[in-house]
Amino acid sequence: MKKFDITVTVEALAASDLSDSESRLVDLARQATYRSYAPYSHFCVGAAILLDNGEVVTGANQENVAYPSGTCAERSACYYAGATYPDARFVAIAIASRGTDGEPTTQPCAPCGACRQALLEYEMRAGHDVAVLLVGSDTVYRLPSVKALLPLAFTEF
Ligand code: THU
Repeated sequence: MKKFDITVTVEALAASDLSDSESRLVDLARQATYRSYAPYSHFCVGAAILLDNGEVVTGANQENVAYPSGTCAERSACYYAGATYPDARFVAIAIASRGTDGEPTTQPCAPCGACRQALLEYEMRAGHDVAVLLVGSDTVYRLPSVKALLPLAFTEF
């Protein structure tokens, strides 16, 4: 029997460690949490995606009384980006959240499995790694790529 390990390096950064471009993306993700529609969970998530044409596209979770019909922030952002700028490639994504108390979460918000799968497709279309910034109130986790969030991903059939 063979075994192998899959390791993911996560950098835990303070605000001062971020580049200007990263800080801007983090701010835009935080602002996007205020455009969330979350009357059921009261958990507000915002996502901001930097594209290679310089545009930043944002999204926020949109819930529905028929719960599964709602959409996470990450997918609202990546589908909006794909539908608005079909030729642009993703460069980086930041994801931020506010908890049921309305305050930014201390813990960085990590995307759900479905969003990881959706984002991975855009990373593959980009043909290069897409940096991921998971935003907590005091700490930002930086991962090098979406695939780092989804080891052994389903990619082709
Ligand atoms: N949510 C997101 O928008 N992104 C995530 O990565 C995790 C969860 C949303 C879905 C739902 O509207 C609320 O957060 C509570 O799960």
